[in-house]
Amino acid sequence: MHDGALTDLVQKAQDAFDFAERQLRRLTTNHPGYFPLFTKNGRWHHHSESWTHWCEGFLGGMLWIVARRSQDPWWREKAEEYSRLIEYRKTDRNVHDLGFLFLPTWKVWFELTSESSLKETVLEAGKTLALRFQRNGRYLRSFVAPESLFIDIMMNVELIFYTAAQLGDRLLYEIALDHCLTTRRFLVRGDGSTAHEGIFSTETGEFLHQSTHQGWRGDSCWARGQAWALFGFSTTYAYTNDSRFLDTARACADYFIENTPDHGIPPNDWDEAKHMVNKGGTAYESSAAAIAVCGFLQIADQIENQGVACRYRERAWRTLSTLLSSEFLAERTPGWEGILKHGIYHKRKDIGVDESVMWGDYFLLYALDRLTRFRFSN
Ligand code: GLY
Repeated sequence: MHDGALTDLVQKAQDAFDFAERQLRRLTTNHPGYFPLFTKNGRWHHHSESWTHWCEGFLGGMLWIVARRSQDPWWREKAEEYSRLIEYRKTDRNVHDLGFLFLPTWKVWFELTSESSLKETVLEAGKTLALRFQRNGRYLRSFVAPESLFIDIMMNVELIFYTAAQLGDRLLYEIALDHCLTTRRFLVRGDGSTAHEGIFSTETGEFLHQSTHQGWRGDSCWARGQAWALFGFSTTYAYTNDSRFLDTARACADYFIENTPDHGIPPNDWDEAKHMVNKGGTAYESSAAAIAVCGFLQIADQIENQGVACRYRERAWRTLSTLLSSEFLAERTPGWEGILKHGIYHKRKDIGVDESVMWGDYFLLYALDRLTRFRFSN
């Protein structure tokens, strides 16, 4: 992207930040202490099914991003309040998502203050997450069942790597490493695509088959899972320095790029979209694009060859530019309460389809923060 276009994108990013602040102020003022997952007809407050409680860290995470940028005590107070509200989840053994809860909130809070009691909360959550480890099969089980491994957990395993590094705990490190190796072996395919879920025998640990909940079929590729994979394997590379993980992150990123139009927004599932050609439209899954932008930027920073790194960075900026257009950014949609439109939570269950989703808003803000910081530091 040439300099003028990048300057234009940074300006759009600043404007999008102002819009995001307005939306967040409205949500936290109108519904204090409420943690929505997805909108219904653009409204956060409704009584639809949640399926699982995995994303209560993203609202606090956005509040921390805004608080850090603005240095405004009002935002700081909100960020601390929404973090405290989820502290009790540090011992939650019902979900595999403790990384999503504690990395954007309590870890950020600790890093800003160096207060050891804050770190204790993060480490306790990390130890809780590690209790999901299945010795047979060597993976962290999903919330669904002991025999189930989800690709999503690649984004949460960082919490265990972090805890292991802070405590110097070799056993925790090996649990995290084994989980990543198992996921790489059984959920990542030869063409760089991923399966959402792997099913194992709990008796022997034998891998049985690939499956899905939020994608189309067990042998298809669910776009958000692919985004979790490319970002998650890149993070694993950052903690392990094992080049196999950067190779896997790049293979997943390349699959994402090669199968998505130039605007950067995938459908919910690429194989389903191919199957549906001429059978009606396929909705966008904008949250996968927002996550992928963050992953592409991280991968670009990890690649030594600047020509290759540039390819991922360019793709990130181009996708972000689409996400900031009026088709996706909700700024010009009267009454819409989210920030990013056209996300999908769970297509098969028909919940949160073509709506704003809390993690889509979070990763968009994370990417905007990266873009504006990248710009100022270059
Ligand atoms: N279950 C996590 C996700 O919807 O991506």
